[in-house]
Amino acid sequence: MKKVLFIIIGLIVLCAVGFFTFNNISMGKEITNMNDKKVLVAYYSYSGNTEKVAKKIQNLTNGDLFEIVPKQPYSNNYNEVVALAQQEKQKDVRPELIDNGDVSGYDIIFIGTPVWWYTMATPVKTFIANNDFSGKIIVPFCTHGGGGASSTYIDMQKLAPNAKVLTGYTSYEDTAKDNEITSWINNLKF
Ligand SMILES: Cc1cc2nc3c(=O)[nH]c(=O)nc-3n(C[C@H](O)[C@H](O)[C@H](O)COP(=O)(O)O)c2cc1C
Repeated sequence: MKKVLFIIIGLIVLCAVGFFTFNNISMGKEITNMNDKKVLVAYYSYSGNTEKVAKKIQNLTNGDLFEIVPKQPYSNNYNEVVALAQQEKQKDVRPELIDNGDVSGYDIIFIGTPVWWYTMATPVKTFIANNDFSGKIIVPFCTHGGGGASSTYIDMQKLAPNAKVLTGYTSYEDTAKDNEITSWINNLKF
């Protein structure tokens, strides 16, 4: 008798889980853990890889999108940019931006960057340094060319010590997967 009861309860639980999962997906609510939080997706992208991830996150979260754009555009010559970025890193240069953005109206700020010399790109440093992230949640993401995130996320936390920096999403060049991005966000504890 007890066994039958357990089976019935098990079936009810399974049906409930199935119903809620199906309901969320069929209603287009792929992201289930953000409630009424105000979300900003800020990113810098030199060659488009990080921008693709940013747009996917924006689409999933219904957040606002903000592109970080340096006042002085980087050269189209890749090797020149690599050399300049190395100098900028060594001298801790923070290149001026067209617009510093404003994170004050947001609870959660996704920040995306390509990895440049083992850390975030310098325009992203400017963006973080020129905004007040006290009490905010930063969700970092980055794309790289084979070396992984390196110290990107640790350096973001150092630049915004009063923010809570959550687990980042890291992908190689343009290989980010939609389902990976969705489950990464759903597993975040806001
Ligand atoms: C200036 C510069 C420095 C880079 N440094 C690294 C690095 O340290 N590690 C790495 O894995 N990839 C590095 N890359 C490769 C980029 O992180 C990678 O191509 C990234 O996906 C580019 O993103 P984007 O298209 O959004 O600009 C570097 C690229 C550039 C232009």
